[in-house]
Amino acid sequence: MVNKITVVGAGNVGATTAQRVAEKQLARTVVMVDVAEGIPQGKGLDQWESAPIEGFDTRVIGTNGYEETAGSDIVIITAGIARKPGMSRDDLLNTNAGIVKQVSEQIKKTSPNAILIIVSNPLDVMCYVAKEVTGFPRERVLGMAGVLDTARYRSFIAEALDVSVRDIQAMVLGGHGDTMVPLISYTTVSGIPVTQLMDRSTLDAIVDRTRNGGAEIVKHLKTGSAYYAPSAGAVQMAEAIVRDEKRILPCAAWLNGEYGEKGIFLGVPCKVGRRGLEQVLEVELTAEERAALAKSAEAVREPMKAVKL
Ligand code: LAC
Repeated sequence: MVNKITVVGAGNVGATTAQRVAEKQLARTVVMVDVAEGIPQGKGLDQWESAPIEGFDTRVIGTNGYEETAGSDIVIITAGIARKPGMSRDDLLNTNAGIVKQVSEQIKKTSPNAILIIVSNPLDVMCYVAKEVTGFPRERVLGMAGVLDTARYRSFIAEALDVSVRDIQAMVLGGHGDTMVPLISYTTVSGIPVTQLMDRSTLDAIVDRTRNGGAEIVKHLKTGSAYYAPSAGAVQMAEAIVRDEKRILPCAAWLNGEYGEKGIFLGVPCKVGRRGLEQVLEVELTAEERAALAKSAEAVREPMKAVKL
């Protein structure tokens, strides 16, 4: 375990993330910080009071300031407003950019060596804001989107085939939006190419549902967006860092020419360990997948240009 993990934002995503971090005992202390008075304190205390039942010793603390977060090993940023029905993630751009900017300034001062995991939307652009404002190297700024999108894709495939989710291996690359790129050519069921087990139209419908997975939840909830799967995704990345697992996970990473892209955050296969992003893996893509990834990069570049830092 590490000494301290901070979760910024005590809304549904942030609070569920803190709870998962505590229940997995990834840190001695998890600090939840939020501008809303009383919310992080109340949720943090409530979670800590569950410790004797759940059997974890991770102290959960809630606060409105950044002093308690000082010296964090990992900071998970979930702060920002969520989508309402009919809104795209890009509709959140300016409000959330302002929030992520303020948060990043605080983190830079109080936890200069932290590894950042960004969850706020629009995801790829918020990663850019955090990296620009903190000046942290790319190894220490990762975005959580691919793990979530891949989890959705895997859950739909497992359901359609009536097999264990554990046996579905897959990667969803690209930006966290409608242009994301589920890689059918790398989707296997215990090593068996999925195309041998499922007809193309079923698979295409699953790809489509994955692309709209976030909106599907927003449509049900009406007043907010998903949080159980997003928090699980963020914590899987944190766990890979804390336990130096060297997991290969699809994460938003700052590209230096990989996949023909430079100066942009995009979902790609990453090796994640104690140093954060330890390697970007470049895999062969079909012409169709390459074109889809380039299109996805364009969809990230547009709002990136629009954002004011
Ligand atoms: C989703 C939002 C949180 O994909 O981006 O559910």
